[in-house]
Amino acid sequence: MQIKKAEFAVSNSNYKKCPQTDLPEYAFIGRSNVGKSSLINKLVNRSNLAKTSAKPGKTQLINHFLINDSWYLVDLPGFGYAKVSQTERFKFSQMIKEYLLNRKNLVCIFVLIDSRLDPQAIDLDFMQFLGESGLPFVMAFTKADKQSKNQLQSMLARYRKTMLQTWAEMPHYFITSAETGEGCEDVRAYIGELNEQSKK
Ligand code: GTP
Ligand code: MG
Repeated sequence: MQIKKAEFAVSNSNYKKCPQTDLPEYAFIGRSNVGKSSLINKLVNRSNLAKTSAKPGKTQLINHFLINDSWYLVDLPGFGYAKVSQTERFKFSQMIKEYLLNRKNLVCIFVLIDSRLDPQAIDLDFMQFLGESGLPFVMAFTKADKQSKNQLQSMLARYRKTMLQTWAEMPHYFITSAETGEGCEDVRAYIGELNEQSKK
């Protein structure tokens, strides 16, 4: 799928104020600094559409971007950022939870995971929550440019082994880099297919 147009729509802290629409929507979520905003920018070939930062905690709201006038990408705040206060952390997760549980046009959630790390409890717990809530998701391993092919393969093997302890199968996944664009074509094609299916 080609990206012809990508524009910022709205930012807010309440799912009720998100665009009133039936257009298919895809949310990017994961730990702070995992590369959500960067991957969104790379997917739509725009360097600064979603705001990025080397410091964790940059994205603090639910940000909607309208793509090709026909679907939305959503950049969410990261979870598990230790430096924000407990109350702030709670508010973030409530805000994200309410958005995820109530957003009717949310077609698929992209759970971003740092490809350099061993499986982390916080990511596994989050996917568990999605599974229990019946919310469709795929995994996107980020920052692949920082790993060798061998390192990526062994990370995947460890992840698969861990996931299979609780899941019947490894969820669909992508290996991505916002630096080199690796995996972006696959992600765009996948979203394109889901967009087609959601028309039926
Ligand atoms: P929050 O909004 O704070 O939750 O972070 P985020 O998940 O949106 O991360 P962001 O896209 O802001 O990126 C965090 C840092 O990682 C930035 O310094 C990016 O340049 C860097 N980064 C993101 N993706 C990649 C990647 O694929 N490769 C490399 N080498 N660096 C990346
Ligand atoms: Mg961000």
